[in-house]
Amino acid sequence: MEPISSDERLFFPATQRNRQPIGNALADLLPPAGVILELASGSGEHGVAFQQRFPKISWQCSDPDPDHCRSISAWINHEGLASVMPQPLPLDVRCDDWIKPGAEAPAMVVAVNLLHISPWECTRALMQGSVRHLRPDGKLLIYGPFRVAGKHVSDSNEQFDDALRERNPNWGVRDQDAVINEARHAGLTLADIRLMPSNNQMILFKR
Ligand SMILES: C[S@@+](CC[C@H](N)C(=O)[O-])C[C@H]1O[C@@H](n2cnc3c(N)ncnc32)[C@H](O)[C@@H]1O
Repeated sequence: MEPISSDERLFFPATQRNRQPIGNALADLLPPAGVILELASGSGEHGVAFQQRFPKISWQCSDPDPDHCRSISAWINHEGLASVMPQPLPLDVRCDDWIKPGAEAPAMVVAVNLLHISPWECTRALMQGSVRHLRPDGKLLIYGPFRVAGKHVSDSNEQFDDALRERNPNWGVRDQDAVINEARHAGLTLADIRLMPSNNQMILFKR
């Protein structure tokens, strides 16, 4: 891989606001050690923040967007984490193999703000891929805005949903029950739902 400069770091403002509450929830939920596979890592700001906050785990970022992967690498280098944190994987959730054969199975798969900004097939792929790749006691954690019983939980979520669907008719704020059903169908069990700031939710499944 060619050298990545710190100038290639991207800055996603929401990560400044939500890293603390997401990190606080992770503090309860993360295993003491093991690999955490983050899908749709975006800029990589969450990845480096959580690797620093939880040094005993190995935070593996991934994203299909090459600019995002370069940003993740730049953040890893900028924060001096290159010796402890793996380089990002160029991973689309829909691909069959998320990790190399023989690699340590993730203890947790994490997907923050992916489901509303990708077609439904990505939600299905996330559930099915988690069942395929997680270790037997592994967990899947998803975070983002969700409708509850078909209804938006705030006007701002409804406006956000409209804007998403205008950008891409296959995107949109997902219904919590539909997501849970898809997970159950794949073989996951609902373990926890937490209300998070700014009308977001964290949903945890067990393999
Ligand atoms: C709204 S951003 C969220 C980034 C980051 N998790 C955060 O919260 O800042 C959505 C991310 O999903 C990624 N993404 C879109 N389609 C994807 C797919 N099929 N598989 C994996 N990631 C995908 C995009 O490249 C982008 O980085």
